[in-house]
Amino acid sequence: MTDPSLRTMGQQFGRRSWAEPWKIKMVEPIHMIDRGERARALEEAGYNTFLLRSEDVYIDLLTDSGTSAMSDRQWAGMMMGDEAYAGSRNFFNLENAVQTFYGYRHVVPTHQGRGAEHLLSQTAIKPGQYVPSNMYFTTTRLHQELAGGIFVDVIIDEAHDTLNLHPFKGDVDLDKLRALIKQVGSENIAYVSLAGTVNMAGGQPVSMANVRALREVCDSHDIRIYLDATRMVENAFFIQDREPGWADESIAAILKEFCSYTDGAWMSAKKDSMVNIGGWLAVDDYDLFDALRNKVVIYEGLHTYGGMAGRDMEALAIGIAESVQYEHVHSRVSQVHYLGDLLLSWEIPIVQPVGGHAVFVDARRFYPHIPQDQFPAQTLAAQLYLDSGIRSMERGIVSAGRDPETGDHRYPALESTRLAVPRRVYTQAHMDVVSEAVKVVYDSREQTHGLRMVYEPKQLRFFQARFEPIGIHS
Ligand SMILES: Cc1ncc(COP(=O)(O)O)c(C=O)c1O
Repeated sequence: MTDPSLRTMGQQFGRRSWAEPWKIKMVEPIHMIDRGERARALEEAGYNTFLLRSEDVYIDLLTDSGTSAMSDRQWAGMMMGDEAYAGSRNFFNLENAVQTFYGYRHVVPTHQGRGAEHLLSQTAIKPGQYVPSNMYFTTTRLHQELAGGIFVDVIIDEAHDTLNLHPFKGDVDLDKLRALIKQVGSENIAYVSLAGTVNMAGGQPVSMANVRALREVCDSHDIRIYLDATRMVENAFFIQDREPGWADESIAAILKEFCSYTDGAWMSAKKDSMVNIGGWLAVDDYDLFDALRNKVVIYEGLHTYGGMAGRDMEALAIGIAESVQYEHVHSRVSQVHYLGDLLLSWEIPIVQPVGGHAVFVDARRFYPHIPQDQFPAQTLAAQLYLDSGIRSMERGIVSAGRDPETGDHRYPALESTRLAVPRRVYTQAHMDVVSEAVKVVYDSREQTHGLRMVYEPKQLRFFQARFEPIGIHS
């Protein structure tokens, strides 16, 4: 039995408690609709949490993308929007922030991450070229494939094992990369697509040692490295926390050094930088920049706004500087780990180690009786909403889509349901409520049946697919 003198959660977990480095100035009321209404909402949404109305959701852990709370300084920045069509001063503030904190020379603004992925893929991939990557991300791989690229997963094997405690499960397996270079020739590799805190692996970081070694391999074959910097600040925190030799370096210094081993980066600023919309693409090579700048005006907007309002760029410039503050990133990642520790204490299967932005529940071990093609992770997301109005997201077979060659489902090793925590939005009490809800769903797991897909969009199907429950007799 727990020692009754241990009252705070910090004491119970054997550490000093930490608190969020902010106080609340404005609130948005939330409430839970009753179970009958939730059942109806779920059915209307085709058992897909993306199709729920947000007013029917109690605690929204669908994504950490665009859902963070902006600071008072960011909101003040919104009032300083220079909405000139060309040459807005907010663009120059953004350009300066990207150059200062990420270190790249040339910056192209985009409306969000996939706008940047589109431009980079169309510019840097020739049809038939290979794009090795440390696991895939849905929109990233699709843009690479639409440009004629062939995605190859070169992440270390440990990333596919939900119980392996490797501290840097996002690392590239350099032997896999060398073998690919040998097999297809370096001229047939468009670039290495490297992601920080790999989302689909459970938010797992890449070590500094790995990116340095990757740089050496790529230099010896004249291959470029482009970084998905979407959650690279959180990756820098893990390097500081886990990798020998980095404990005394600031998050900002680690971020910049990591980026220095790459040739450029793209960013969904809706995550680390805590804005509701925004993104960018930044490279060192002038000719590539010039090509990207020519393209951005076709698809996004002029090269000094790229789909964002001036006020959005100002909030983003301020958010970049706030994102690298130790107090912020420590409390952000610790809140995610707090939720993970609660689930682990009840032996609920989750992907370990817990990553930076979300807890990924391992739906294969959660529902061992539901075959992967009956969508266990989708089922878990639906059950969690039904129990308590909490919204999560499938990250398994539905997200993986179909193989463009064979048309079959891709069967990813990881079949998980993601509880993504928005930054600066929820409190420890919300995490307690979420953990108890997962436990209730876990306790009734044996009575749960899977789903069948009844509508399937051709691309990025997880956003709009519809499902029906498989009855006991069907
Ligand atoms: C790792 C990663 N890369 C790229 C993107 C795409 O960014 P956006 O949603 O801003 O288009 C996301 C979004 O979820 C992401 O998580």
